[in-house]
Amino acid sequence: MYDTPKAETAVTSNEIKFSANNVDVYYGDTHAIKNVDVQIEANTVTAFIGPSGCGKSTFLRCLNRMNDTIDICRVEGDIRLDGEDIYDKKVDPVQLRAKVGMVFQKPNPFPKSIYDNIAYGPRIHGLAKNKADLDVIVEKSLRRGAIWDEVKDRLHAPGTGLSGGQQQRLCIARAVATEPEVLLMDEPCSALDPIATAQVEELIDELRSQYSVVIVTHSMQQAARVSQKTAFFHLGNLVEFGDTSKIFTNPEDPRTESYITGRIG
Ligand SMILES: Nc1ncnc2c1ncn2[C@@H]1O[C@H](COP(=O)(O)OP(=O)(O)O)[C@@H](O)[C@H]1O
Ligand SMILES: [Mg+2]
Repeated sequence: MYDTPKAETAVTSNEIKFSANNVDVYYGDTHAIKNVDVQIEANTVTAFIGPSGCGKSTFLRCLNRMNDTIDICRVEGDIRLDGEDIYDKKVDPVQLRAKVGMVFQKPNPFPKSIYDNIAYGPRIHGLAKNKADLDVIVEKSLRRGAIWDEVKDRLHAPGTGLSGGQQQRLCIARAVATEPEVLLMDEPCSALDPIATAQVEELIDELRSQYSVVIVTHSMQQAARVSQKTAFFHLGNLVEFGDTSKIFTNPEDPRTESYITGRIG
């Protein structure tokens, strides 16, 4: 029913980037994430799927402490990146978000030039000693975002003047400019047309060689195309987690089966 060629040929390492244990998230009295355990591997695309409101974005935002910016949100439990507790008092969330980059549903380039969109993070994190260094980082990032050829002759034009698909690849390039280890993407293709979606999906597959990628998607076809691991969330519970090919062909839990066959969600 779903085509999963990449999942079958995938080489997945077993190095664990993120280890989350007993994670609960509340918005006031709303219990949005319920006792979730999950491990995210390096060099792997992990997809979070499930019906609208099941907690995918909430859990994704736990991984780079974006929920810290929501007043009523409370996160409990243990989340480690390379063995280190990311909620420890000594962790600076700004530094954490450079290591764990994020790409949002709607492309959101800064109202600045293409060059400055990419240079912004490296500048604030002091990654370039001089202009020549910065030029190298900008080019490298735009290449990793698979958009260099399209923008190399207009680096000083505004990022907001690009097409939607180009803007999203620019945002991915901006996220990789700070040398992250993990890229979080929350429905990164939902505002894009099918061609731009295919380009971003291809890019995600390339990014896996260097980063661990976690993608929230409401499209099961997309999860099947781009991911090696899939987590199925339902009503705040992580119902099932495993190899994408297994989740889509032979799920263990009846709720997963209902979802992938279109009976819930
Ligand atoms: N900023 C917020 N304030 C209050 N409740 C929220 C907020 N964000 C999400 N929620 C609630 O948390 C639950 C999970 O939402 P969300 O993580 O956005 O789900 P998904 O991404 O799977 O659609 C829902 O009940 C939603 O209404
Ligand atoms: Mg969401």
